[in-house]
Amino acid sequence: MNIVVIGPGALGSLFSARLAVSGQDVTLLDHNVTRAQALANRLVLSTADQDIEATLTITAHPACLADAELIILAVKSPQVDGLIHIAQSRTGPDTLILGLQNGIGHLQPFKDCATGLLALGVTSQGATLVKPGHVRHGGHGPTTIGFLHPAPDQRTAMLKRVAAAMSAAGLATEVVDDIEARLWQKLLVNAGINGLTVLYDCPNGQLLGIAEARTRLIALVEEGALVARQKGLDVGPDPVGRTLEVCRATANNISSMLQDVRRGRTTEILAINGALVAEAKKLATPVPENELLTRQVLMKS
Ligand code: PAF
Repeated sequence: MNIVVIGPGALGSLFSARLAVSGQDVTLLDHNVTRAQALANRLVLSTADQDIEATLTITAHPACLADAELIILAVKSPQVDGLIHIAQSRTGPDTLILGLQNGIGHLQPFKDCATGLLALGVTSQGATLVKPGHVRHGGHGPTTIGFLHPAPDQRTAMLKRVAAAMSAAGLATEVVDDIEARLWQKLLVNAGINGLTVLYDCPNGQLLGIAEARTRLIALVEEGALVARQKGLDVGPDPVGRTLEVCRATANNISSMLQDVRRGRTTEILAINGALVAEAKKLATPVPENELLTRQVLMKS
């Protein structure tokens, strides 16, 4: 399959490297010409026991989009809308675009698309960018992909081919018909953990030992779960328990948001807690903890 991955961050590098090593025809598209040239068509993928070298095309020229059957958007949510327009103006009528973002701030173009050309994904793969061109695959987790609206049969078949290609590359992927609920399930975990790790400047697991942080985490997730249920989304029986479990399971992780703050990058707070607040406003549901956390993280970053 001819695949273009847009975004050379941790997730984009992980998916590019894994898919390339498995024999797919992969191009990694970077907006930064100097960095794309420096990477010299090579990524290093570190696993627990080995370093694997992946050879693929790494370029800053969007001309590569023309032949893509699949485009994976591995960028932050504010960039998604613009990149969909660029991609669609350069590709054929059958190219599938898959958005792999945290949060729910990027959903509008997917909601507007009933043709099965835009799919969404949510992943629990653990990836850390050691440096540009070198990614560590720290933990395996499932990836789920799906359309927001029922899609024509041939588009569903294409999505299943994508899931098979990703699974064969060591990125276990399943096609689901409730992708919005899956996004919200992950959203609640991120809403409970990420912003608080910024406020307390700590790894995920330490939140459990700080009484005030733990209380706030529970309130953040409970508020989010209420909004999700009001929207008719199934977020499972115990989103708070699941979030506490993720905190334990990723105890030593520096959350993606704290990594962003430490590197001086824009955080995803508006796509996570901020977007949750916006959804709550539409339903006139008060979410004071999420509002407070959004303001506090914006002041810190
Ligand atoms: O964004 C992150 O950092 C991760 O989604 C998670 C699960 C909070 C682990 O660090």
